[in-house]
Amino acid sequence: MDATLTDREKTAERLLAASAKHSFDPDTELDWDAPFEEGSWYWPPELVSLYDTPLWKQLSEEQRITLSRHEAASLCSIGVWFETILMQLLLRHTYDLDPTSGHVRYALTEIADECRHSKMFARAVTKMETPAYRPSRLDLQLGRVLKTVSTTPGSFTGTLLAEEILDWMQRLTFPDERIQPLVRGITRIHVVEEARHIRYAREELRRQMATAPRWEIEFTRLSSAQAARVIARSLISPRVYASVGLDPEYAAHTALNSPHRQDVMKQSAKRLMDFFEEIGLIRGPSRRLWRASGLVG
Ligand SMILES: [Fe+2]
Ligand SMILES: [Fe+2]
Repeated sequence: MDATLTDREKTAERLLAASAKHSFDPDTELDWDAPFEEGSWYWPPELVSLYDTPLWKQLSEEQRITLSRHEAASLCSIGVWFETILMQLLLRHTYDLDPTSGHVRYALTEIADECRHSKMFARAVTKMETPAYRPSRLDLQLGRVLKTVSTTPGSFTGTLLAEEILDWMQRLTFPDERIQPLVRGITRIHVVEEARHIRYAREELRRQMATAPRWEIEFTRLSSAQAARVIARSLISPRVYASVGLDPEYAAHTALNSPHRQDVMKQSAKRLMDFFEEIGLIRGPSRRLWRASGLVG
């Protein structure tokens, strides 16, 4: 066995052992019947897209909490869309590989995690009694194209983009006592299980970038930067703003141009972008496209 393979198998075995110890069934782990608490937030206010804007200042406390409910629901709904894509990419990654390897067994374990997560997020949306927010038609189609043409390093880059940005937000959410207990429970489960996914994807991506042919790396830089744009702009559906009587287009424009929001998005991606810089994903002509995603400082 060569060094890369041994390294890959070692990581997989470690992750399989951790999965056996710390995996959760959200259906039984969380209290889905408890009513929501009066006056508690559904998402940290500082992470709500309009925080600190003139529109935010016009909203009452109750409206701000309502908006936090719709934004949490949007993140859950869009999370299901991301995970549906990730599961397909991961399954495709296993297609050519030895099914008895730890690396493939871990990929299947991760898909099982994502199945439980997607059911959990969908159930949370139902519980929050909001619309099931979906990406725009254009982004839904772009997602279809990107997952179809994705290279292997591109698949792991896209996975990390979706996982690490949400992970950064969820790490601020689950310990926060202002937040609804159900939302804290969901984000805690997700943070614990995603830590393994992030590890798996980062290590595999580093290996892929060291061995992929030049054309594949060039293509991955451009397609991943495009994926970053789609992911960043899809997180909050503009339709959430209608829940508090705001014009969706105007409110989305306000959020996009809010210095606080721009800072939150950059902070959420900071560690990942440093890693992408290090392994050579943000180079040459792709840099402008990366900047346009609002994730690179
Ligand atoms: Fe997940
Ligand atoms: Fe994941």
